[in-house]
Amino acid sequence: MGDDFLEAGIDFERANAARVYDYILGGSHNFEVDREQAARTMAAYPDIARSAQANRAFLGSVVRWCLARGVDQFLDLGSGVPTVGNVHEIAHGIDPGARIAYVDFEPVAVAHAREITADLGPVTVTRADVRDPESVFADPGVAGLLDLARPVGVLMVAVLHFVADDAAGLVGRYRDALAPGSVIAMSHNSDDQDDPALAAALRGVGEAMRGSATELTLRTRPELAAFFTGLDLVPPGLVDVVDWPVPGSAPPVGVYGAAGIVPG
Ligand SMILES: C[S@@+](CC[C@H](N)C(=O)[O-])C[C@H]1O[C@@H](n2cnc3c(N)ncnc32)[C@H](O)[C@@H]1O
Repeated sequence: MGDDFLEAGIDFERANAARVYDYILGGSHNFEVDREQAARTMAAYPDIARSAQANRAFLGSVVRWCLARGVDQFLDLGSGVPTVGNVHEIAHGIDPGARIAYVDFEPVAVAHAREITADLGPVTVTRADVRDPESVFADPGVAGLLDLARPVGVLMVAVLHFVADDAAGLVGRYRDALAPGSVIAMSHNSDDQDDPALAAALRGVGEAMRGSATELTLRTRPELAAFFTGLDLVPPGLVDVVDWPVPGSAPPVGVYGAAGIVPG
């Protein structure tokens, strides 16, 4: 990474979820401080790579599900450092005209996403804070690409557990800006687990991330179900991401996922 990154507001002192997650998924866009945090996270939860992979698979399933029901534009909030199975790759494999607006606040994630999507047509990358929906929607990268009069798939995958305050209210603010038929999908870490060992592992991940730029807020299943107030929850409902959209035989990873449709 060149000196221009130094001017882009990178926090080299504190680990960031974008770069820790990149490391856990086998990427190279991370720093020593991120790898140290990843090591603490993996010590607390040795199966964390399977969890990250299952979360990415959930993201892909949601994108395919949206396209199958005619939703062909996406707002990917907290999109992260590009890795395998990015939204534009999945979507354009099905519909080359699909529009994708990526949003993240971490400069390395944004720079790398801009680099790999530079010549891709209907794909934009915006640096913004997802806790400020008005600024997200007003940014030219979003306002100039997405037609909010038509359904949009809003992806909040593994990002809301980095929002400490009123995440349910935040989801509602996005919901209120969307046309009927839009989809809001989210995944979220939780220590509300039947398996005490999995619950303890998730709490350990939260501890490991304390003091980082992106501290983890674990929420209960009822708290996550409340995110879907005013939305039509898509079957199978709020489940571990390994079980969306079809319950399978893989053990849970401690990340709940769900999708809801804006009614009307
Ligand atoms: C664990 S990664 C998830 C990446 C991708 N959504 C996925 O599930 O594979 C979380 C991402 O959310 C981003 N993020 C966290 N809080 C954010 C905020 N307030 N605004 C924008 N991005 C945020 C982080 O920078 C990071 O890239």
